[in-house]
Amino acid sequence: MKVLFMDLKTQYESIKGDINTAINNVIEKTAFASGPFVKKFEEEFAAFCGIKQCIGVGSGTEALWLALLGLGIGPGDEVITVPNTFIATAEAISFCGAKPVFVDVDEKTYNMNPALVDAAITPKTKAIIPVHLFGQMADMNPIMEISKKRGLFVIEDASQAHGAEYKKNKAGSMGDAGCFSFYPGKNLGAYGEAGAVVTNDEELDRKIRMLRDHGQAKKYHHSYIGWNARMDGIQGAILSVKLKHLEKWTEARRRNAKIYDELLQDVPGVIAPWESAHGKHVYHLFAIRVAERDRIISALAEKEIFCGIHYPIPVHLLDAYKFLNLRKGSFPVAEKSASEFVSLPMFPELNREKIEFVVRGLKESLAALAK
Ligand SMILES: Cc1ncc(COP(=O)(O)O)c(C=O)c1O
Repeated sequence: MKVLFMDLKTQYESIKGDINTAINNVIEKTAFASGPFVKKFEEEFAAFCGIKQCIGVGSGTEALWLALLGLGIGPGDEVITVPNTFIATAEAISFCGAKPVFVDVDEKTYNMNPALVDAAITPKTKAIIPVHLFGQMADMNPIMEISKKRGLFVIEDASQAHGAEYKKNKAGSMGDAGCFSFYPGKNLGAYGEAGAVVTNDEELDRKIRMLRDHGQAKKYHHSYIGWNARMDGIQGAILSVKLKHLEKWTEARRRNAKIYDELLQDVPGVIAPWESAHGKHVYHLFAIRVAERDRIISALAEKEIFCGIHYPIPVHLLDAYKFLNLRKGSFPVAEKSASEFVSLPMFPELNREKIEFVVRGLKESLAALAK
C-alpha cells in the first residue's frame, strides 16, 4: 500500500464531468479575468461564510495584503500575529510597509494565545491577525474583546479553515475581514492560484474591490494606486463546483480525524491534535508531534507513507525576518512544536484501511528508533 499526503487526482476523478463542463463554459464565454463566474462564486462563498461580501482575488497572500491595505495599514504601523504560520501572513504585513509583531501560541491548539496579546500592543499597533492553523479557529472571543477595548482591527487568516466554526460563527465572519486561500491543496482548492476576502464592512468591500483592479471602480478611472489581483474566471467556476461538495468533504476529514484519534490513543511518544470544545475543526492538516521528527518522516517515507511539516521554521527565525532580531527562545511554544510537527496524510478520500496502515507504520517507526 502507498498513502499520499494528499490526493487531488482522486478528488478530481469524482467530479470530473462538472469540472470539465465548468472550465468549458468559461472558455465558451471568454470570461477569463474576473467576470460572471467569479461574481457567482463570490455570492456563494459569502453565503457559505454567513457574510455579506466576498471579493475574489488572485491568492490568499493577496487577500491578506489587500485587507490590510483596505483598512489603511501602512508604514510605521504594527500588526500582531503568530510566528507559527506560513510566511504569507507576515509577508502581507511587510508588503504594506508595516511591521509584524509576534505573540506565542497556545500549547494545545497552536493558535494565538490571547493572554499574550495585550503586552504586545504599542501605540503603533493597528491590527491583529489570528491564524486559524490546521483548520481550527483561534480563541476569537478574547481576541475580539481586546481589539474592541484597544481600538484595533482584526483580520482572520482563515486560509486553512474553510467552514471551521467558533461558537457557531464561521471562520472569516468574526473579524473586520476574513482572508482565504484557495491554493489547490486547501480544503476548498482551486486548480491554480486563488483567494478571497470576506467582510460585512461595505466601505472595506468597496475599497478592496477597487484595489484588486488597479484602484478603479469604472474602467480607466483610477481612484487609487491598486494592483492586478483579480481572480481568474476559470478558478471562480471551478470553486463554485467544488463548494457544493465542501460540507461533505469536511465531514469526511472529521471522520478520518476521529479514526486517527482512536488509533493513536495508546501510542506513547505521540501528541495528537486537540479539538477545542469551542468550535468545529475542519482538519486541513492532521499534525501530530513526535521527538526525532525528521527520522520518523524518513522511516514513514520508506514505507510509502508520505507526510508534511507545517511549518519547520517559525517565521521569526526565517532568514527573511532576521532583521527583526528575534532570537531563538523568543516564542518557546511555537519553536518547540515546530521542531516536532509531522502532518500525517489527511484528505477526504482517505479511508480506515489507509489510516490503519499509516498508524501501524508510525508505531513501527517509533519502535525502531527506540531500539
Ligand atoms: C495560514 C496561511 N496564510 C496564507 C496563505 C497564503 O495563501 P496563498 O498560497 O493562496 O497565497 C496560506 C497558504 O499556504 C496559509 O496556509
